[in-house]
Amino acid sequence: MAHQWRGLIAEYPDRLPFGEGDPVVTLREGGTPLVHAPALDARTGATVYVKVEGANPTGSFKDRGMTTAVSRVLQTGVKVVACASTGNTSASAAAYAVAAGLQSAVVLPAGKIAAGKLAQAIVHGATLVAVDGNFDDCLRIVRELTETHPVALVNSVNPYRLQGQKTAAFEIVDQLGDAPDIHVLPVGNAGNITAYWMGYSEYAGRTTLASLDETATRLPAASTKLPEMWGVQAWGAAPLVLGEPVDEPETVATAIRIGNPASWKYAEAARDDSHGWIDRVTDERILAAQAVLAAEVGVFVEPASAASVAGLIQAAEAGRVPQGATIVCTVTGNGLKDTATALGGREVDIDPIAPTVEAAVAALAL
Ligand code: F0G
Repeated sequence: MAHQWRGLIAEYPDRLPFGEGDPVVTLREGGTPLVHAPALDARTGATVYVKVEGANPTGSFKDRGMTTAVSRVLQTGVKVVACASTGNTSASAAAYAVAAGLQSAVVLPAGKIAAGKLAQAIVHGATLVAVDGNFDDCLRIVRELTETHPVALVNSVNPYRLQGQKTAAFEIVDQLGDAPDIHVLPVGNAGNITAYWMGYSEYAGRTTLASLDETATRLPAASTKLPEMWGVQAWGAAPLVLGEPVDEPETVATAIRIGNPASWKYAEAARDDSHGWIDRVTDERILAAQAVLAAEVGVFVEPASAASVAGLIQAAEAGRVPQGATIVCTVTGNGLKDTATALGGREVDIDPIAPTVEAAVAALAL
């Protein structure tokens, strides 16, 4: 009989802070494709895979953290979940709230959310609040209001979020047979780089700054090494590269348009403990990498996701990629969430032909 992936909490029961009988809210997230990308091998001299997180139920890696965070909320009796978001967290929170029978409230920077993500929050019935400010303002507001009201915060400052997100590292090790030499990923609020480092570390039998004590692994190691963590920020939203918050972050990659990441210290620890780095790439490079992934690999990702690949290509051009290394780039979200940016100014109105094979043959110049 065909086997269906059961979702993170069922697939990694020993490594997540849930016990038998605890409520589980899942949309069968995780188990995403790890795709070899020869077009990136050719550009880097390494063996490059992309971890396609856009294949999750709501189209981004956020579902990994949402199954754990929302499952935990059911243990507390709170009836409303809330988050600040650049779009994907809100889409995921809204969907998992539906699955859990909870309400969701999402606080978003006005005018800066890709259309697909906004549509998701709406169809899943979230209560939307648009703030005349950026993501950092939204997060400050949500943190304060969840402290004083019976509402559960499901941003990645909630440690259960990172617990779920760390499982992507487990999957990569399970799929490759060991950890890669280098892991590259986009960095916005810096939760995901923190979570991956936690996952790789726990699989290698270690803990990190962000590990929850109760789940710090006491299991046998599943990998023999740890990757270097390479983080990539957008040029106009690169606080971790500049070493100070950015007051007015700006980038075409709206998902990572963040000036003051919540997991700042954890991200620096991941960078330093892994002997990696965090760099920044221009919007032009992000869009070029998005086009390479779409036209040469066959994977359509949103702009923020392409930042990882843009950072890798930039590093290769600077001679910083060890030849022959095994490298995984996380591509965090689905390209369908933001088709307007991907198409740019390109014409999408095509003149119709007569409904005949002959006309089709002529139009295709066959
Ligand atoms: N890629 C995508 C597609 C994202 O949506 C995000 C974050 C990131 C990368 C960066 O991950 O914040 O863990 O460093 N999106 C958040 C949101 C902020 O609200 O959806 P991070």
